Amino acid sequence: MGLRENLAQLPRHFADSFFRSAAFTGARRQAALVANTWFLHIHPARMHPYSLRVTFTFGLGVFAFWLFVILSATGILLMFYYIPTTDAAYATMQDLIFVVPFGRLIRNAHRWTAEGMVVVVALHLARVFFTGGYKPPREFNWLVGVGLLLLTLALSFTGYLLPWDQLAYWAITVGTSIAAYFPLFGDLLRALLLGGETVTEQTLIRFYVLHVVLLPFLLALLIGYHFWRIRKDGGLARPRALPTTENVLSYPRVLQIELAILLALLIVFLPLAYRFDAPLGAPADATHPPNPAKAPWYFVGVQELVSYSAVWGGVVAPVLLFIALLFLPYLDRDPRGVGAWFAPERKGMVAAGSVILLALVAVTIIGALLRGPNWAFYWPWEGWPGPK
Ligand code: HEM
Repeated sequence: MGLRENLAQLPRHFADSFFRSAAFTGARRQAALVANTWFLHIHPARMHPYSLRVTFTFGLGVFAFWLFVILSATGILLMFYYIPTTDAAYATMQDLIFVVPFGRLIRNAHRWTAEGMVVVVALHLARVFFTGGYKPPREFNWLVGVGLLLLTLALSFTGYLLPWDQLAYWAITVGTSIAAYFPLFGDLLRALLLGGETVTEQTLIRFYVLHVVLLPFLLALLIGYHFWRIRKDGGLARPRALPTTENVLSYPRVLQIELAILLALLIVFLPLAYRFDAPLGAPADATHPPNPAKAPWYFVGVQELVSYSAVWGGVVAPVLLFIALLFLPYLDRDPRGVGAWFAPERKGMVAAGSVILLALVAVTIIGALLRGPNWAFYWPWEGWPGPK
């Protein structure tokens, strides 16, 4: 082949070399693209159409994945400016908002996608629960998911402190004081988190390292393992009656769906970040606690329970819920109803899960919206005065 021909074929030859599929044509080429390309290899070459139904998964796991990617990208950009010291942290946040080109947009996008990820991961867990997706052989991947949930919460919690404003300072003070209710090792746990008795620069540097290095690294590793397990466990759980002979080629359908989900996220979060600013209160002041001081919203339910009883609300209830999550897939192994939403064969489990979910939502709403100064109860129409 002459130089002229090679030049004309350059895009195709480059694509063949990248996707390693030159030797194939037609359907075999589509299958080879997936099997031979590193980043597509995460998918199986063929999938059951049942797993691709929007109303089965709502794409929630993929939403969570892309949110993590967006958070990593915006987080790296923020790191170019942010300085994790008590003298500089708040000032660099102001610089980001008022001086750095696109700084406000990037900060807002990082903040809103972080809140979004907590919600989406929780919804994904609920989806897997209500479709029985945790049952054998997927028990271990459910445990990996529980690890992902904890890491997502820890990432959000450690990020909360970094603006070093009043909201951050007191939310972390309240959040870490809940940890201290644990019997035996509660004080140690809090001291380890804070690097002392109260929130100081020691805490800021600890949270910063956890937030930008250790936790994202662990989350990326665990997401990779989660995806690998989905493949090894035979794809998504589906009703046993469905034959595998209906499997279809996954490329390009799955990639298109995944890219559409990324596009949907950008369409929602870019205008949101443009229009609504992430909160930034007054600079942190250890001598002026706001009244009420609230934990981040996803822990405010626990704070609400603590207001009734420190031990039952702060320790017993969260620990029981955690133990239930860990043991669920090993104790509920009946394959009937797997792969269908709210299957009648699972009505006891579905009812129990719904009650727990509603209770969690209820205590979160009460703690977040209906509690005012001194943790007194306020109806919204009575005009909650807001934190002082
Ligand atoms: C960073 C967080 C997470 C990411 C990125 C993620 C991603 C995914 C993706 C892409 C899927 C394929 C189907 C779908 O989109 O629903 C999936 C399935 C699954 N996930 Fe997650 N996940 C996360 C957290 C969790 C959590 C918190 C749990 C539960 C405790 C969980 C348990 C499972 C299980 C058991 C499956 C297989 C479900 C089935 O076969 O129907 N994941 N995950």
